[in-house]
Amino acid sequence: MALDEQIEQVANRLKTAQRMTVMTGAGVSVASGIPTFRGDEGFWKEVRPEQIATPQAFRKDPKFVWDWYDSRREKLKECSPNRGHEVLASWSNRFPDFTLITQNVDGLHELAGTKNVIRYHGSLWEVGCWEECPTSPHRWEDRTCPIPDHPPKCPYCGGLIRPGVVWFGEVIDPEVLVMSSQASRCDVFFTIGTSSLVYPAAGLVSDAKDHGAFTVEINTESTPSREVVDVSLVGKSENVLDQIELALSRSVSS
Ligand code: APR
Repeated sequence: MALDEQIEQVANRLKTAQRMTVMTGAGVSVASGIPTFRGDEGFWKEVRPEQIATPQAFRKDPKFVWDWYDSRREKLKECSPNRGHEVLASWSNRFPDFTLITQNVDGLHELAGTKNVIRYHGSLWEVGCWEECPTSPHRWEDRTCPIPDHPPKCPYCGGLIRPGVVWFGEVIDPEVLVMSSQASRCDVFFTIGTSSLVYPAAGLVSDAKDHGAFTVEINTESTPSREVVDVSLVGKSENVLDQIELALSRSVSS
């Protein structure tokens, strides 16, 4: 089926959807100027994840880890939401029960005005005490950028501060797991711009399908989710989402 026809099919299904859940990954932020992780120009081509995105890496060299995260924060400061983020933000108002689960730590969905965002892998704009000192909150917002001294110190205990993201080998916040699992019980589930390789996030689309959701993938390339979903839309999320939104507006007004 041609992409146009697939888009009509999806828009038709959306007309009656009440409960809608969207899972996003790095691909949705590419048009905002943020690299993916595993693409040709992805972050994991410039540095190996085990050198930078594990508790062991931080224990070994917190300054090296902070240099990298601070440079990501500096680049991110210049970035704004793209058309894909905007469409998803408008869906968060359109559908009566909408949840957006994002693996992205860039905060662009929130900046676009999306309601009900679950940050599966944390946020680049949050930090936490590495020692988990009893006086500090688990995570708090800190938008200081650039951070003057690497590694920065915890204002509560004077120990080290860590980036507020979930690293490889760490567990996802149990509350986030419960909320995401509940959200996967929905009428329509989208998985957008993610390689679907990192679990448990990658398992949510199958959960949704097993519970009867109509499932849709938007991606420029083939991923393991393509075998699972009802409809696979091949293209850039910023374009495909715009086209679905157009088809949806047409069908609602006709
Ligand atoms: N529109 C849609 N999809 C796109 C676009 C685009 N414009 N550009 C790239 N993609 C797709 C790629 O084809 C790829 O499948 O986005 C996906 C990005 O995959 P990854 O780089 O693996 O990013 P992601 O799936 O978000 O990574 C998951 O891995 O390292 C960790 O914690 C990090 O949250 C991240 C997790």
